[in-house]
Amino acid sequence: MRATFFETMPRIVGHRGACGLAPENTRASFHKAAEIGTRSIEIDVMVTADDHCVICHDMSVDRCTNGKGPVLLKSLNEIKSLDAGSWFSSEYKGEQIPTLAEAIEIVRSHEMSLNLEIKPTDGWQVPTAKLVGQELKEKLPSDLPVLLSSFNIEALVTIGDMLPHLPRGYLADTIPDEWERRLREARADSLHCSHEFVTEDAVKAVKDAGYRFLVFTVNDIERAKQLLDWGVDAIITDFPDRMLS
Ligand code: G3P
Ligand code: MG
Repeated sequence: MRATFFETMPRIVGHRGACGLAPENTRASFHKAAEIGTRSIEIDVMVTADDHCVICHDMSVDRCTNGKGPVLLKSLNEIKSLDAGSWFSSEYKGEQIPTLAEAIEIVRSHEMSLNLEIKPTDGWQVPTAKLVGQELKEKLPSDLPVLLSSFNIEALVTIGDMLPHLPRGYLADTIPDEWERRLREARADSLHCSHEFVTEDAVKAVKDAGYRFLVFTVNDIERAKQLLDWGVDAIITDFPDRMLS
């Protein structure tokens, strides 16, 4: 029986694995997160031209690989031929962009939980959510706690229809005035915001309304303590080692 993500959620979640310490959204980053004691990681999923789910943050491969162009216009073979490690450090040369299935396997092998952010290329929200939903239906182990999240409400609603038992988080950089309406519309269980915009009053309002509150991307220890003191449920950080210590 699957424990829900929130039942097992630690207060520190690794961002894109442990992306301050290893190249983001790679197997090396997931292993590094586990090695330093992270119990949960956030990763970004998008889809390829041939309908595979891969772990990548940007719409294009330019920043984090030796290739160029949109992920959505590349086949899985093309994606797999890219070096996703050297941009970070020569130590990680040859690191590949992982598939969702590969990421799930690593997360499970370390008994971590997973915050899977659906990152659709604009205009490709529904196909992305459907492909990710289908893959999770087929491959998600029953004992792996998952929280789905997205900046895109349409993606959350689409995947929520396919996997209603998985909790969902709505992402926004700011705290939108109409956050309650958006959370209802997304049928979300949590709000995830960028820490610069988070105030004590906002945390109280969101928590009083019965939602979980996660905050990204917090790399300063004093700020993390303040947010957690205010009642934030978890912070998402590039440096889980710093926060865990
Ligand atoms: O899910 C939290 C955070 O990852 C959202 O922003 O741009 O880092 O995916 P981004
Ligand atoms: Mg993300």
